[in-house]
Amino acid sequence: MKISVIGCGYLGAVHAACMAQLGHDVVGVDVDAGKVAALAAGRAPFYEPGLPELLAEAGATGRLTFTTDVAAAADAEVHFVCVGTPQRADSYAADLTYVDAAFRALLPHVAPDAVVVGKSTVPVGTAGRLADELAAARPGASLVWNPEFLREGFAVQDTLHPDRLVYGVPDDARERAVALLDQVYATPIAEGTPRLVTDRATAELVKVAANSFLATKISFINAMAELCEVAGGDVTQLADAIGLDERIGRRFLNAGLGFGGGCLPKDIRAFMARAEELHADPAVSFLREVDSINLRRRERMVDLTVGVLDGRPLAGARIAVLGAAFKPDSDDVRDSPALDVAERLHARSARVVVTDPQAVANARRKAPHLRYADTVEEAVDGVDAVLVLTEWREYRELDPGKLFGLVAAPRVVDGRNALDADAWRDAGWSYRALGRP
Ligand code: UGA
Repeated sequence: MKISVIGCGYLGAVHAACMAQLGHDVVGVDVDAGKVAALAAGRAPFYEPGLPELLAEAGATGRLTFTTDVAAAADAEVHFVCVGTPQRADSYAADLTYVDAAFRALLPHVAPDAVVVGKSTVPVGTAGRLADELAAARPGASLVWNPEFLREGFAVQDTLHPDRLVYGVPDDARERAVALLDQVYATPIAEGTPRLVTDRATAELVKVAANSFLATKISFINAMAELCEVAGGDVTQLADAIGLDERIGRRFLNAGLGFGGGCLPKDIRAFMARAEELHADPAVSFLREVDSINLRRRERMVDLTVGVLDGRPLAGARIAVLGAAFKPDSDDVRDSPALDVAERLHARSARVVVTDPQAVANARRKAPHLRYADTVEEAVDGVDAVLVLTEWREYRELDPGKLFGLVAAPRVVDGRNALDADAWRDAGWSYRALGRP
């Protein structure tokens, strides 16, 4: 099929490459000429495991091109809108500027019988509004909402082999829209991927409900961590024990610094803002607590750091922060808990050095006032405490014996409950973690 993908960020670039991999003819469109040039040359403009290989493979077939010219989308049968919906600067609501701009730029190039598919995470009701605009401009075309559930770090796998497909379709073009999307996703459907057909509002809600549930699960376990801290319990054992109940499940019960990134934090806030507009705010007011619990973890991490310094003032203390990305296998520092903690420590005059396997360049752009190191060894050299704030595999597998000789004082704070506490203690370190004795 001929497909266009409008917006080539973390979502769109992966979607475009994966659609080409599934055998479609794909043109990716983005307003950022630098991003387009990189993608056209087969380079991923951000770190995502498997994407460079996929770009090379799909690029070689001639089925994947990138351009800044939205007119190149004109002969596509299906247009995917994949632009970002960040939090507005002045409120909790989603900023729909990019969705609206992309949609309006695309509109003159939509063929009379084409299907426009929204993938961005939007406040419920957005699809209906855009559908009205599309109907006015192109009466034969239809608008479908098909939310994306990919995780950064697993984006290629999640797109090629999704857990489920959700099609939010209009009543009047239901069969045609479903048939077209079934063609797009023929391969994952043949693999047995469940596919749910809903109305558009439900599809929009499915996405925010899923992210709200995940955020709630994380904040739930972090609330238990707060209790473990005051009552002398161990939240990792608690999570293992409750997680064995299949109804609860162990996944997304990792207590620590909490959630960040470009999705969960802004999605729960946008959901609260939208619910308020719909006069249904009580229905999701618990998300305010989810957000508060999450943000409290960051200040608790600062307190724990003060605690391990054994009376030495934080001001002037040398602190190594291992991790700047919001999670491992990503270079994304949007709302990164790790970078936030580094900034809080810096604001209290600690001498902070940050390192990360992939995210230093992005972190430096966002927080240029912090000091950065290229390697763990360089970062921990002569420090008073080491903080592990993103659980990259190379940090989980660090050899505490080797690092012992490099630091001024062997103190480690495990912000992600990712280290082997016994191994670090046996190697002579004082080990502290969130939610554990
Ligand atoms: C999230 C969802 O997981 C995806 O399903 C969704 O498609 C995506 O948002 C989106 O809306 O586009 P992502 O932001 O890539 O994906 O990251 P997650 O893997 O969900 O992690 C989010 C944050 O939660 C990270 O900061 C992570 O460190 C934290 N987390 C995760 C925990 O603190 N504890 C856990 O047990 C799990």
